[in-house]
Amino acid sequence: MTMATVYPSLLRLSLLAAATQAISPRADGDCPSNTLEVSYPAPVAADGWTYRLVAEGLTRPRGILFDSEGGLLVVDGGTGLVHFRLEDEGGTCVSVGERTVLVEDEDLNHGIALSHDGNTIFASTANDVYSWPYDATSPGPLDNDSRRTLVTNMTSPGHTTRTLLLSRSRPGILLVSRGSDSNEDLETEHVDSGRSQIRSFNISRLGGQDDGPYDYLDGDVWGWGLRNPVGTAEDPVHGGIWSVENSVDQLRRDSRDIHTDNPGEELNFHGFIDGSVGDGSVLRGTGEENNYGYPLCYALWSTDDFPNLGNLSTGDQFAAGQADNMTDESCNEDYIAPVLTFQAHTAPLDIKFTDDGSEAFISFHGSWNRNEPVGYKISSVAFNQDGMPTAPRDSRNATTDILTAPELGNCPGECARPVGLAWDSEGRLWFSSDSTGEIFVMARGAGGRGGSGGSGGDGGGGEDAGLQLRPGMVMLGAVVVGLLLV
Ligand SMILES: *[C@@H]1O[C@H](CO)[C@@H](O)[C@H](O)[C@H]1NC(C)=O
Ligand SMILES: *[C@@H]1O[C@H](CO)[C@@H](O)[C@H](O)[C@H]1NC(C)=O
Ligand SMILES: *[C@@H]1O[C@H](CO)[C@@H](O)[C@H](O)[C@H]1NC(C)=O
Ligand SMILES: *[C@@H]1O[C@H](CO)[C@@H](O)[C@H](O)[C@H]1NC(C)=O
Ligand SMILES: *[C@@H]1O[C@H](CO)[C@@H](O)[C@H](O)[C@H]1NC(C)=O
Ligand SMILES: *[C@@H]1O[C@H](CO)[C@@H](O)[C@H](O)[C@H]1NC(C)=O
Repeated sequence: MTMATVYPSLLRLSLLAAATQAISPRADGDCPSNTLEVSYPAPVAADGWTYRLVAEGLTRPRGILFDSEGGLLVVDGGTGLVHFRLEDEGGTCVSVGERTVLVEDEDLNHGIALSHDGNTIFASTANDVYSWPYDATSPGPLDNDSRRTLVTNMTSPGHTTRTLLLSRSRPGILLVSRGSDSNEDLETEHVDSGRSQIRSFNISRLGGQDDGPYDYLDGDVWGWGLRNPVGTAEDPVHGGIWSVENSVDQLRRDSRDIHTDNPGEELNFHGFIDGSVGDGSVLRGTGEENNYGYPLCYALWSTDDFPNLGNLSTGDQFAAGQADNMTDESCNEDYIAPVLTFQAHTAPLDIKFTDDGSEAFISFHGSWNRNEPVGYKISSVAFNQDGMPTAPRDSRNATTDILTAPELGNCPGECARPVGLAWDSEGRLWFSSDSTGEIFVMARGAGGRGGSGGSGGDGGGGEDAGLQLRPGMVMLGAVVVGLLLV
């Protein structure tokens, strides 16, 4: 924040506080400088949270983060890398001061990271991870000549996002995750397919300008057999590496369609960034041992009416689909089960821990492959002092909803679809919604009414109808991308 914005906002806050003696000057939703409203039934925040729409009119905003000066960086799929200077009046009363396109490249589609010192920015296309030198004090178009390619040879059809996670406790270690190229991608049974896995690269070894990029297959394998692990996170206290996985669609077991409530989406643990799994033991190895099961084994969500349930519980792995030679026993013995399982098709896309590691927030993009939509929300998961979830691994209620769609029947056409999450320096949680082209801020505050700038939850507005994807358009899109819609 610059002095120019600090001073009026302090003045404003103290005037308001004097006038109302409110604990949170923004709890009433008053924010004359930002009157944006969503053009669909407004999301509903849980008690203790408020939120506000801050930016709209983007193409397909995905990964987001804050630079060292409080600038918001957004990968806007179909546009490139965009910087927002924000006017901050406290609470959720934030508005866009200036929007600057840093990189025009419509192939940048999701991944973004910033170096520890804030001076290098990373972003990814389906094929490459790039870096650019960055100066947060004067954000302007980044010089294309200064762009370097760090990782390459990742092109494949299907899932095209390449999420980037730069370790905080081991600067220079960059984790890059890749999904499958089809719903049941059988080649991912081989680790050298390079798909459905998370690998790490020591980018500090790429010292000179002439050092070539890594091939994706050069990376250390943190996990494979992960269908589409879009969200990755490092727990800031213990250094645990976690991912959220989008599991398979249209699944059958014993010739029965089980896709509505199975398999579960997954929260997977990949050991600690220092190479241990806890108890002082060594990581299962960055290699072949780290297989999480896809495309042979899946995690059980609902046990209701499940064919040949046997003694399986929620969170256990089961054999299905292509796994003709597999049994539920071999799935549980030979592959790593999730630490938690989430409702099928909720589509978790990002995970971010609080600074004290006691909670992780997860964005659920929402289902397309289910008659009654699910997801379209942001939830939190509680973690204990050992850096593990407090809920047991067979839990079906490990998530606490923070922001939800008021009427899931309207989704996906008339709902926000949360994707990227980011904390700002004030402890507010931001998220992007790709289908609506929007960015929102959320804040914890006593007595918040959970509204967005007075939009009241009844629709209204409508100026942005052009940004809305109608259900028919979404289904058409699903067909075009081969039914891989996250
Ligand atoms: C940027 O530079 C790369 C080579 O480093 C080139 O392939 C690409 O076309 C350039 N993009 C623009 C917009 O000039
Ligand atoms: C990464 O590479 C640098 C430079 O070669 C080296 O000093 C460092 O130890 C490496 N880090 C890891 C975790 O291997
Ligand atoms: C990328 O793949 C091509 C084709 O297999 C290969 O020739 C090239 O060396 C690879 N690039 C790197 C950086 O390894
Ligand atoms: C389920 O039963 C099989 C054998 O019938 C056994 O090997 C396995 O350990 C059991 N699993 C659980 C979770 O109890
Ligand atoms: C089943 O077959 C696949 C190859 O299709 C193989 O990877 C797997 O190890 C086999 N599992 C068992 C239990 O034999
Ligand atoms: C979650 O479900 C379990 C088992 O039904 C129950 O004991 C527990 O109280 C529930 N927890 C919450 C937070 O609702």
